[in-house]
Amino acid sequence: MRVDEVAAQTLAAIRAGGTHRSMRRFEGAQGPRMRVDGREVLVFAGSNYLDLAHHPEVVEAAVRAARDQGCAAGGSRLINGNLSLHEELEEDLAKFLGVEAALVFATGYMANVGVIPALTGAGDLVVSDALSHASIIDGCRLTRAEVRVVPHGDLEVLDQVLAKEARPGRRVLLAVDGVYSMDGDVAPVAALCEIAQRHGAMLLLDDAHGTGTLGARGRGTAELCGVPAEAIDVQLGTLGKSLGSFGAFVAGSRALRELLVNTARSFIFSCGLAPPQVAAARAALTVVEREPWRRERLQHNAERLRRGLDAQGVSTIPSTTQIVPVQIGDNDRTMTVCERLLERGFFAHGIRHPSVPVGTARLRITPMATHSEAEIDALVAAVAEELARSG
Ligand SMILES: Cc1ncc(COP(=O)(O)O)c(C=O)c1O
Repeated sequence: MRVDEVAAQTLAAIRAGGTHRSMRRFEGAQGPRMRVDGREVLVFAGSNYLDLAHHPEVVEAAVRAARDQGCAAGGSRLINGNLSLHEELEEDLAKFLGVEAALVFATGYMANVGVIPALTGAGDLVVSDALSHASIIDGCRLTRAEVRVVPHGDLEVLDQVLAKEARPGRRVLLAVDGVYSMDGDVAPVAALCEIAQRHGAMLLLDDAHGTGTLGARGRGTAELCGVPAEAIDVQLGTLGKSLGSFGAFVAGSRALRELLVNTARSFIFSCGLAPPQVAAARAALTVVEREPWRRERLQHNAERLRRGLDAQGVSTIPSTTQIVPVQIGDNDRTMTVCERLLERGFFAHGIRHPSVPVGTARLRITPMATHSEAEIDALVAAVAEELARSG
Protein backbone atom coordinates (compact mmCIF):
# COMPACT_ATOMS: atom_id res chain seq x y z
CA MET A 1 0.00 0.00 0.00
CA ARG A 2 1.16 3.56 -0.72
CA VAL A 3 1.14 6.28 1.92
CA ASP A 4 -1.94 7.99 0.53
CA GLU A 5 -3.90 4.74 0.52
CA VAL A 6 -2.95 4.10 4.15
CA ALA A 7 -4.00 7.65 5.00
CA ALA A 8 -7.31 7.35 3.15
CA GLN A 9 -8.16 4.05 4.84
CA THR A 10 -7.28 5.21 8.35
CA LEU A 11 -8.88 8.64 7.98
CA ALA A 12 -12.11 7.09 6.66
CA ALA A 13 -12.32 4.97 9.81
CA ILE A 14 -11.65 8.04 11.99
CA ARG A 15 -14.35 10.04 10.17
CA ALA A 16 -16.82 7.16 10.51
CA GLY A 17 -16.14 7.16 14.26
CA GLY A 18 -16.89 10.89 14.52
CA THR A 19 -13.45 11.74 15.87
CA HIS A 20 -11.76 13.40 12.90
CA ARG A 21 -9.63 16.37 14.02
CA SER A 22 -8.27 19.44 12.36
CA MET A 23 -6.28 22.34 13.73
CA ARG A 24 -7.72 25.77 14.36
CA ARG A 25 -5.66 28.80 13.48
CA PHE A 26 -4.74 31.14 16.32
CA GLU A 27 -3.38 34.64 15.81
CA GLY A 28 -2.04 37.24 18.21
CA ALA A 29 -0.19 36.97 21.49
CA GLN A 30 -1.14 34.13 23.83
CA GLY A 31 -3.73 35.42 26.27
CA PRO A 32 -7.41 35.41 27.16
CA ARG A 33 -8.34 37.24 23.92
CA MET A 34 -7.08 35.97 20.56
CA ARG A 35 -8.15 35.59 16.95
CA VAL A 36 -9.29 32.03 16.30
CA ASP A 37 -10.04 31.06 12.70
CA GLY A 38 -10.23 34.76 11.86
CA ARG A 39 -12.63 35.71 14.66
CA GLU A 40 -11.89 37.70 17.85
CA VAL A 41 -12.78 35.42 20.75
CA LEU A 42 -12.35 34.90 24.46
CA VAL A 43 -10.12 31.87 24.87
CA PHE A 44 -11.16 29.34 27.53
CA ALA A 45 -8.86 26.57 26.32
CA GLY A 46 -5.28 25.49 26.74
CA SER A 47 -2.95 25.65 29.70
CA ASN A 48 -1.56 29.19 29.82
CA TYR A 49 -3.44 29.34 33.11
CA LEU A 50 -1.54 32.20 34.76
CA ASP A 51 -1.31 34.22 31.52
CA LEU A 52 2.49 34.24 31.64
CA ALA A 53 3.26 33.23 28.05
CA HIS A 54 3.20 36.88 26.94
CA HIS A 55 4.17 38.48 30.26
CA PRO A 56 6.68 41.31 29.59
CA GLU A 57 9.33 39.88 31.96
CA VAL A 58 9.01 36.42 30.42
CA VAL A 59 9.23 37.76 26.87
CA GLU A 60 12.17 40.03 27.74
CA ALA A 61 14.08 37.11 29.32
CA ALA A 62 13.55 35.01 26.18
CA VAL A 63 14.64 37.87 23.90
CA ARG A 64 17.75 38.53 25.95
CA ALA A 65 18.68 34.83 25.98
CA ALA A 66 18.22 34.57 22.22
CA ARG A 67 20.36 37.66 21.67
CA ASP A 68 23.13 36.59 24.08
CA GLN A 69 23.14 32.80 23.67
CA GLY A 70 21.34 32.03 20.43
CA CYS A 71 18.25 30.03 19.61
CA ALA A 72 19.48 26.47 20.19
CA ALA A 73 21.37 24.38 22.73
CA GLY A 74 23.18 22.92 19.76
CA GLY A 75 22.96 19.28 20.78
CA SER A 76 22.21 16.78 23.52
CA ARG A 77 22.97 17.91 27.07
CA LEU A 78 25.43 14.98 27.26
CA ILE A 79 27.40 16.17 24.23
CA ASN A 80 27.71 19.93 23.77
CA GLY A 81 24.27 21.17 24.90
CA ASN A 82 24.52 21.45 28.69
CA LEU A 83 24.21 25.19 29.25
CA SER A 84 24.69 26.99 32.55
CA LEU A 85 21.16 28.29 31.96
CA HIS A 86 19.77 24.71 32.11
CA GLU A 87 21.47 24.06 35.42
CA GLU A 88 20.32 27.41 36.85
CA LEU A 89 16.71 26.61 35.93
CA GLU A 90 17.05 23.15 37.47
CA GLU A 91 18.38 24.66 40.69
CA ASP A 92 15.50 27.16 40.73
CA LEU A 93 12.93 24.39 40.17
CA ALA A 94 14.39 22.17 42.90
CA LYS A 95 14.39 25.10 45.33
CA PHE A 96 10.84 26.06 44.36
CA LEU A 97 9.58 22.51 45.02
CA GLY A 98 11.75 21.93 48.09
CA VAL A 99 13.59 18.89 46.70
CA GLU A 100 17.25 18.09 46.08
CA ALA A 101 17.39 18.22 42.31
CA ALA A 102 15.58 18.59 39.01
CA LEU A 103 16.30 17.73 35.39
CA VAL A 104 14.63 19.44 32.44
CA PHE A 105 13.27 17.50 29.48
CA ALA A 106 12.11 18.69 26.06
CA THR A 107 8.42 18.14 26.93
CA GLY A 108 6.21 16.51 29.55
CA TYR A 109 5.55 13.74 27.06
CA MET A 110 9.29 13.09 26.71
CA ALA A 111 9.73 13.21 30.49
CA ASN A 112 7.18 10.45 31.08
CA VAL A 113 8.44 8.21 28.29
CA GLY A 114 11.94 8.71 29.70
CA VAL A 115 11.43 8.34 33.42
CA ILE A 116 9.08 5.32 33.53
CA PRO A 117 11.42 2.98 31.61
CA ALA A 118 14.37 4.42 33.57
CA LEU A 119 12.82 3.22 36.83
CA THR A 120 11.40 -0.13 35.76
CA GLY A 121 12.22 -2.97 33.37
CA ALA A 122 11.57 -6.63 32.67
CA GLY A 123 10.07 -8.41 35.69
CA ASP A 124 9.07 -5.15 37.41
CA LEU A 125 5.60 -3.64 37.79
CA VAL A 126 4.04 -0.29 36.88
CA VAL A 127 0.59 0.50 38.24
CA SER A 128 -1.33 3.37 36.76
CA ASP A 129 -4.80 4.94 36.82
CA ALA A 130 -7.39 4.38 34.08
CA LEU A 131 -7.44 8.13 33.35
CA SER A 132 -3.68 8.65 33.25
CA HIS A 133 -2.32 11.01 30.61
CA ALA A 134 -1.32 9.52 27.24
CA SER A 135 2.36 10.16 28.00
CA ILE A 136 2.18 8.00 31.15
CA ILE A 137 0.43 5.31 29.10
CA ASP A 138 3.14 5.50 26.45
CA GLY A 139 5.88 5.49 29.10
CA CYS A 140 4.30 2.26 30.39
CA ARG A 141 4.32 0.86 26.85
CA LEU A 142 8.03 1.55 26.57
CA THR A 143 9.03 -0.22 29.76
CA ARG A 144 9.26 -3.96 29.60
CA ALA A 145 7.69 -4.18 33.05
CA GLU A 146 4.26 -5.65 33.71
CA VAL A 147 1.64 -2.86 33.55
CA ARG A 148 -1.56 -2.88 35.60
CA VAL A 149 -4.24 -0.20 35.24
CA VAL A 150 -6.63 0.35 38.14
CA PRO A 151 -10.08 1.99 37.86
CA HIS A 152 -9.90 5.77 38.24
CA GLY A 153 -9.22 6.77 41.85
CA ASP A 154 -9.92 3.27 43.21
CA LEU A 155 -7.56 3.04 46.19
CA GLU A 156 -8.96 -0.30 47.30
CA VAL A 157 -8.12 -2.03 44.02
CA LEU A 158 -4.74 -0.29 44.00
CA ASP A 159 -4.01 -1.63 47.48
CA GLN A 160 -5.08 -5.13 46.44
CA VAL A 161 -2.91 -5.10 43.29
CA LEU A 162 0.13 -3.99 45.27
CA ALA A 163 -0.55 -6.47 48.08
CA LYS A 164 -0.60 -9.27 45.50
CA GLU A 165 2.18 -8.12 43.16
CA ALA A 166 4.74 -6.22 45.23
CA ARG A 167 7.52 -8.36 46.67
CA PRO A 168 11.06 -7.75 47.89
CA GLY A 169 13.48 -7.19 45.03
CA ARG A 170 10.77 -6.32 42.50
CA ARG A 171 10.72 -2.66 41.47
CA VAL A 172 7.19 -1.30 41.65
CA LEU A 173 6.22 2.14 40.34
CA LEU A 174 2.90 3.85 40.89
CA ALA A 175 2.51 6.49 38.14
CA VAL A 176 -0.42 8.91 38.36
CA ASP A 177 -1.52 12.41 37.37
CA GLY A 178 -1.72 15.07 40.11
CA VAL A 179 -4.59 16.87 38.35
CA TYR A 180 -6.43 14.74 35.80
CA SER A 181 -6.11 16.63 32.56
CA MET A 182 -9.60 16.00 31.17
CA ASP A 183 -11.65 15.79 34.38
CA GLY A 184 -9.95 18.39 36.58
CA ASP A 185 -10.07 16.27 39.73
CA VAL A 186 -7.10 15.92 42.05
CA ALA A 187 -5.32 12.69 42.95
CA PRO A 188 -5.56 11.70 46.65
CA VAL A 189 -1.83 12.26 47.08
CA ALA A 190 -1.63 11.58 50.85
CA ALA A 191 -3.39 8.21 50.47
CA LEU A 192 -1.29 7.31 47.41
CA CYS A 193 1.91 8.09 49.35
CA GLU A 194 0.79 5.95 52.26
CA ILE A 195 -0.13 3.00 50.02
CA ALA A 196 3.09 3.28 48.00
CA GLN A 197 5.22 3.43 51.15
CA ARG A 198 3.42 0.51 52.79
CA HIS A 199 4.10 -1.70 49.77
CA GLY A 200 7.63 -0.46 49.09
CA ALA A 201 6.58 1.12 45.79
CA MET A 202 7.91 4.29 44.15
CA LEU A 203 5.41 7.11 43.47
CA LEU A 204 5.58 9.23 40.31
CA LEU A 205 3.28 12.26 40.41
CA ASP A 206 2.78 13.94 37.05
CA ASP A 207 1.77 17.44 38.13
CA ALA A 208 1.62 19.01 34.68
CA HIS A 209 -1.51 20.97 35.60
CA GLY A 210 -0.82 21.50 39.32
CA THR A 211 2.61 23.15 39.13
CA GLY A 212 2.20 26.89 39.66
CA THR A 213 -1.58 26.72 39.97
CA LEU A 214 -2.27 24.77 43.18
CA GLY A 215 -1.08 24.98 46.78
CA ALA A 216 -0.37 28.04 48.92
CA ARG A 217 2.98 28.67 47.20
CA GLY A 218 2.05 27.18 43.85
CA ARG A 219 4.10 24.05 44.43
CA GLY A 220 1.26 21.94 43.13
CA THR A 221 -0.98 19.05 44.05
CA ALA A 222 1.25 17.66 46.81
CA GLU A 223 1.29 21.04 48.56
CA LEU A 224 -2.49 21.34 48.15
CA CYS A 225 -2.87 17.90 49.76
CA GLY A 226 -0.49 18.75 52.62
CA VAL A 227 2.13 16.21 51.51
CA PRO A 228 5.80 17.27 51.81
CA ALA A 229 7.63 17.24 48.49
CA GLU A 230 10.27 14.81 49.74
CA ALA A 231 7.56 12.20 50.39
CA ILE A 232 7.07 11.86 46.63
CA ASP A 233 9.80 9.94 44.86
CA VAL A 234 9.35 11.53 41.44
CA GLN A 235 7.54 14.77 40.61
CA LEU A 236 7.03 15.79 37.03
CA GLY A 237 5.98 19.25 35.93
CA THR A 238 5.76 21.10 32.65
CA LEU A 239 7.17 24.47 31.61
CA GLY A 240 4.66 24.82 28.78
CA LYS A 241 1.52 25.31 30.87
CA SER A 242 1.36 27.66 33.86
CA LEU A 243 5.05 28.55 33.37
CA GLY A 244 4.31 30.09 29.99
CA SER A 245 7.25 28.57 28.11
CA PHE A 246 8.02 25.11 26.71
CA GLY A 247 9.57 21.97 28.15
CA ALA A 248 9.23 19.98 31.35
CA PHE A 249 11.13 18.75 34.38
CA VAL A 250 11.47 15.79 36.69
CA ALA A 251 12.24 16.60 40.32
CA GLY A 252 13.30 14.50 43.30
CA SER A 253 16.57 13.29 44.77
CA ARG A 254 20.08 13.85 43.41
CA ALA A 255 20.29 10.09 42.82
CA LEU A 256 17.15 10.24 40.65
CA ARG A 257 18.64 13.05 38.56
CA GLU A 258 21.89 11.13 38.07
CA LEU A 259 19.95 8.00 37.10
CA LEU A 260 17.95 9.92 34.48
CA VAL A 261 21.05 11.59 33.02
CA ASN A 262 22.48 8.11 32.55
CA THR A 263 19.44 6.10 31.47
CA ALA A 264 16.46 8.20 30.30
CA ARG A 265 16.62 7.73 26.54
CA SER A 266 14.38 10.71 25.76
CA PHE A 267 16.86 12.88 27.67
CA ILE A 268 20.05 11.33 26.30
CA PHE A 269 19.12 11.07 22.64
CA SER A 270 17.50 14.47 22.23
CA CYS A 271 18.56 18.09 21.96
CA GLY A 272 18.70 20.27 25.09
CA LEU A 273 16.07 22.98 25.52
CA ALA A 274 16.77 26.21 23.63
CA PRO A 275 18.03 29.20 25.68
CA PRO A 276 14.92 31.39 25.11
CA GLN A 277 12.64 28.63 26.44
CA VAL A 278 14.81 28.09 29.50
CA ALA A 279 15.16 31.80 30.26
CA ALA A 280 11.41 32.32 29.81
CA ALA A 281 10.64 29.52 32.27
CA ARG A 282 13.07 30.95 34.84
CA ALA A 283 11.48 34.38 34.55
CA ALA A 284 7.99 32.89 34.81
CA LEU A 285 8.96 31.02 37.97
CA THR A 286 9.94 34.28 39.64
CA VAL A 287 6.57 35.79 38.68
CA VAL A 288 4.77 32.71 40.08
CA GLU A 289 6.62 33.13 43.38
CA ARG A 290 6.15 36.90 43.51
CA GLU A 291 2.51 37.09 42.41
CA PRO A 292 0.32 34.61 44.30
CA TRP A 293 -2.70 36.62 43.10
CA ARG A 294 -2.43 34.82 39.76
CA ARG A 295 -3.14 31.33 41.15
CA GLU A 296 -5.67 32.73 43.63
CA ARG A 297 -7.49 34.56 40.83
CA LEU A 298 -7.31 31.46 38.61
CA GLN A 299 -8.98 29.30 41.26
CA HIS A 300 -11.51 32.05 41.98
CA ASN A 301 -12.41 32.16 38.28
CA ALA A 302 -12.67 28.37 38.10
CA GLU A 303 -14.92 28.34 41.15
CA ARG A 304 -17.13 31.09 39.68
CA LEU A 305 -17.36 29.11 36.44
CA ARG A 306 -18.31 25.87 38.19
CA ARG A 307 -20.87 27.59 40.43
CA GLY A 308 -22.36 29.53 37.51
CA LEU A 309 -22.77 26.40 35.40
CA ASP A 310 -24.15 24.49 38.37
CA ALA A 311 -26.78 27.22 38.91
CA GLN A 312 -27.82 26.69 35.27
CA GLY A 313 -28.16 22.94 35.87
CA VAL A 314 -24.91 22.13 34.07
CA SER A 315 -22.75 19.63 35.94
CA THR A 316 -18.96 20.06 36.05
CA ILE A 317 -18.35 17.09 38.34
CA PRO A 318 -15.73 15.93 39.27
CA SER A 319 -13.64 19.10 38.74
CA THR A 320 -12.20 20.93 41.72
CA THR A 321 -9.53 22.81 39.75
CA GLN A 322 -9.10 25.15 36.79
CA ILE A 323 -9.88 22.31 34.37
CA VAL A 324 -13.66 22.42 34.13
CA PRO A 325 -15.31 19.71 32.00
CA VAL A 326 -18.90 19.86 30.76
CA GLN A 327 -19.62 16.29 29.77
CA ILE A 328 -21.99 16.00 26.82
CA GLY A 329 -21.39 12.40 25.73
CA ASP A 330 -22.18 12.51 22.04
CA ASN A 331 -19.29 13.50 19.72
CA ASP A 332 -21.37 15.45 17.17
CA ARG A 333 -23.36 17.35 19.78
CA THR A 334 -20.15 18.29 21.58
CA MET A 335 -18.60 19.68 18.40
CA THR A 336 -21.83 21.51 17.47
CA VAL A 337 -21.87 23.27 20.84
CA CYS A 338 -18.17 24.07 20.43
CA GLU A 339 -18.74 25.62 16.95
CA ARG A 340 -21.74 27.66 18.10
CA LEU A 341 -19.81 29.02 21.06
CA LEU A 342 -17.05 30.03 18.68
CA GLU A 343 -19.58 31.90 16.52
CA ARG A 344 -20.63 33.74 19.68
CA GLY A 345 -17.05 34.69 20.54
CA PHE A 346 -16.00 31.97 23.01
CA PHE A 347 -13.49 29.21 22.41
CA ALA A 348 -13.89 26.19 24.70
CA HIS A 349 -12.35 23.07 23.24
CA GLY A 350 -14.48 20.03 22.35
CA ILE A 351 -12.74 16.82 23.47
CA ARG A 352 -13.49 13.37 22.07
CA HIS A 353 -12.04 9.88 22.14
CA PRO A 354 -9.14 8.97 22.36
CA SER A 355 -8.42 11.95 24.65
CA VAL A 356 -11.35 10.76 26.82
CA PRO A 357 -13.16 7.40 27.04
CA VAL A 358 -15.73 6.62 24.31
CA GLY A 359 -19.14 8.16 25.08
CA THR A 360 -17.74 10.89 27.37
CA ALA A 361 -17.12 13.69 24.85
CA ARG A 362 -17.08 17.06 26.55
CA LEU A 363 -16.25 20.72 26.47
CA ARG A 364 -13.03 21.22 28.41
CA ILE A 365 -13.20 24.76 29.73
CA THR A 366 -10.08 26.31 31.24
CA PRO A 367 -10.28 29.86 32.56
CA MET A 368 -7.19 31.99 33.05
CA ALA A 369 -6.13 34.17 35.97
CA THR A 370 -6.79 37.25 33.85
CA HIS A 371 -10.36 36.61 32.69
CA SER A 372 -12.78 39.07 34.28
CA GLU A 373 -15.83 37.94 36.24
CA ALA A 374 -18.04 39.44 33.52
CA GLU A 375 -16.26 37.30 30.92
CA ILE A 376 -16.76 34.15 33.01
CA ASP A 377 -20.45 34.99 33.48
CA ALA A 378 -20.93 35.64 29.76
CA LEU A 379 -19.39 32.24 28.97
CA VAL A 380 -21.64 30.51 31.51
CA ALA A 381 -24.76 32.01 29.90
CA ALA A 382 -23.61 31.08 26.39
CA VAL A 383 -22.75 27.48 27.36
CA ALA A 384 -26.12 26.98 29.07
CA GLU A 385 -27.98 28.41 26.06
CA GLU A 386 -26.10 26.36 23.49
CA LEU A 387 -26.50 23.16 25.51
CA ALA A 388 -30.26 23.76 25.67
CA ARG A 389 -30.41 24.64 21.96
CA SER A 390 -28.49 21.51 20.91
CA GLY A 391 -31.09 19.44 22.69
C1 LIG B 1 -0.86 15.16 32.80
C2 LIG B 1 0.00 15.53 31.65
N1 LIG B 1 1.25 15.04 31.57
C3 LIG B 1 2.07 15.35 30.55
C4 LIG B 1 1.66 16.19 29.54
C5 LIG B 1 2.59 16.47 28.41
O1 LIG B 1 3.21 17.69 28.58
P1 LIG B 1 3.86 18.43 27.30
O2 LIG B 1 2.74 19.18 26.64
O3 LIG B 1 4.91 19.30 27.88
O4 LIG B 1 4.40 17.36 26.42
C6 LIG B 1 0.38 16.74 29.58
C7 LIG B 1 -0.04 17.65 28.50
O5 LIG B 1 -1.13 18.05 28.34
C8 LIG B 1 -0.48 16.39 30.65
O6 LIG B 1 -1.72 16.87 30.70
